[in-house]
Amino acid sequence: MISQEQILAALKTIRYPGFSRDIVSFGLVKDTAASAGSATAVLQLTTGNPEVATQLKTEAEAALRTIPGVERAFVEVRLGAGSPGATAPTAGHGHAHNHGPSPAAGQPPGGANPWSTQNRVPGVKRIIAVASGKGGVGKSTVSVNLACAFRHLGLRVGLLDCDIYGPSIPLMMGCHDRPEISASEKLLPPERHGVRLMSLGFLIDDSQPVIWRGPMIVKTIQQFLMQTEWGELDVLLVDLPPGTGDAQLTLCQTVPLDGGVVVTTPQEASLGVVRKGIAMFQKLNVPIIGLVENMSYFTAPDGSRVEIFGHGGGAQEAQRLGAPFLGEIPIFTDIRKGGDAGLPIVVSAVSSEPAQAFLKIAEGVRSRVRFD
Ligand SMILES: Nc1ncnc2c1ncn2[C@@H]1O[C@H](COP(=O)(O)OP(=O)(O)OP(=O)(O)O)[C@@H](O)[C@H]1O
Ligand SMILES: [Mg+2]
Repeated sequence: MISQEQILAALKTIRYPGFSRDIVSFGLVKDTAASAGSATAVLQLTTGNPEVATQLKTEAEAALRTIPGVERAFVEVRLGAGSPGATAPTAGHGHAHNHGPSPAAGQPPGGANPWSTQNRVPGVKRIIAVASGKGGVGKSTVSVNLACAFRHLGLRVGLLDCDIYGPSIPLMMGCHDRPEISASEKLLPPERHGVRLMSLGFLIDDSQPVIWRGPMIVKTIQQFLMQTEWGELDVLLVDLPPGTGDAQLTLCQTVPLDGGVVVTTPQEASLGVVRKGIAMFQKLNVPIIGLVENMSYFTAPDGSRVEIFGHGGGAQEAQRLGAPFLGEIPIFTDIRKGGDAGLPIVVSAVSSEPAQAFLKIAEGVRSRVRFD
């Protein structure tokens, strides 16, 4: 097991650019975590300089990878306001305070950051994408039910349909409202089942094939993010289109993602599909929150559990790839019926077995991503 001490020792080898002191004794390390094969850290800078952030991220991730047993390293660098005299992060790692002088002395210099504010969606705390290496495994079903499960847990939730070619959120949430335009000329997201929604499906005619060129897709998604009155949200879920090609990469780069959930089915789990999904997030340095196995098994009329495609593929693959396993969803006719009827099972039958499975996954996500 990788220890916190090892992570801090590795990070202590990194000096703040232009200073002789290391980032740990500067008090910049706000959080660390380790799981099988992976180490993560959060750095809070007082500067807003993106170059410093990029350099520190690269160096810190390289340092973490030198720890024996670490295959994947992820360092989140949070930029500060960059205003002169911005207060130093004092609530650094308990461990860090034992080293060197107080962080207040000789703080790294600040600077304006052109993109930290531009990229965030105002009022939205966390943005999480649901993806898969393959189509038809149930991404949209998982997105919709997770969104409703988060709502059930008391979070303020939005759901953004990024599937430009085949938007399925309107059908699955039972919402075909055309978004109204606010006084400030923004889109007002319609709300269903307590979830604020945005989808291209609201704006185009169902029967019309959509042929969008890449740049237009990016533009559309950017507008959905920035020109929608999301209001205050704890979490915005993003349903991605199938696949992990360039289109998905571009989409993920367009959206400032805080984490990704990868969906698979038992028969796809071992076929590299999961790996593709995970690799896509890794390429973009998006932390992988975990893996969901959909259509895991079904419950026969006599109550017995039938595992058509074998059992545990998703969990095994997650373990092999060092990603957390969030849980499994059974095949359940009512899940599909709920999707077709616009009434997700988490809303229509919250105490049912599949709804409880979705709730458990939502709780797993909540325990891994901070919404405060
Ligand atoms: N656990 C399940 N039990 C029963 N039916 C399911 C389950 N999960 C998904 N389905 C059904 O399978 C079909 C495909 O699911 P869904 O549209 O969510 O997949 P997707 O990965 O979003 O597909 P695409 O790649 O086209 O976006 C839908 O009809 C859905 O209702
Ligand atoms: Mg879908």
